[in-house]
Amino acid sequence: MSRETGKLVITIDGPAGAGKSTVSKALAQHLGYIYVDTGAMYRAVAVLARNGEQPDPLDEEVLEEVCSRLDLQFINLNGEMRLLANGKDVTTEIRKPEISSLASAVSAKAVVRRRLTNIQRRIGAAGGAVFEGRDMGTVVFPDADVKFFLDATAEVRSLRRYLELKAGEEEVTYEEVHQQMLERDRNDQSRQLAPLKPAADAVVVDSSDLSIEEVLRLMLDHIAAS
Ligand code: DC
Repeated sequence: MSRETGKLVITIDGPAGAGKSTVSKALAQHLGYIYVDTGAMYRAVAVLARNGEQPDPLDEEVLEEVCSRLDLQFINLNGEMRLLANGKDVTTEIRKPEISSLASAVSAKAVVRRRLTNIQRRIGAAGGAVFEGRDMGTVVFPDADVKFFLDATAEVRSLRRYLELKAGEEEVTYEEVHQQMLERDRNDQSRQLAPLKPAADAVVVDSSDLSIEEVLRLMLDHIAAS
């Protein structure tokens, strides 16, 4: 909790497709807090590394250079959250499937984690924020006031992501999405730095058979009781 504002830091970690974004946004709105999508930050680094002049976006020097001049801003445009990376709107580009895989690879790099952890802690210093990601409760905010780990079966998560991509008119099959999901789970859980896992003091919620409203109610009840 911020001493100045008395507002909480709430973390929501979990694998891709567990429903974190929808729930985190709704929770932040309900509490009058800001919502911070830290996955979008890793995705933005992936976009910048790929769009540079060097052919290998995972090259250490490329990533160091990207991180050294990284400027990320979330702005609210007519009620819609947009992400600017070094002044360029990357909101649409960061959602492409190839960027999902590259962001996962980029997020295993120490230089990237260090830089983004710094930015995230600075945003969280004032409290009043819901942080969504993979290592929010374990590494970035070990002293967060309330921690959740939102999970769901790989099949449910793949189906949700597939329907989302189809709605955005991406040409994908369920099987492709499912394979990519399994691979990303493996990368995110097995990397050495800040691997995806629930914090010891996180409340684990399985959203496989729950509606958004049910997950939200459960979280609000827990926040009220803590
Ligand atoms: O939440 P997402 O799917 O948009 O995240 C994209 C990638 O970024 C994900 O594969 C893992 C990584 N990530 C991370 O390592 N740490 C975070 N706090 C958030 C995301």
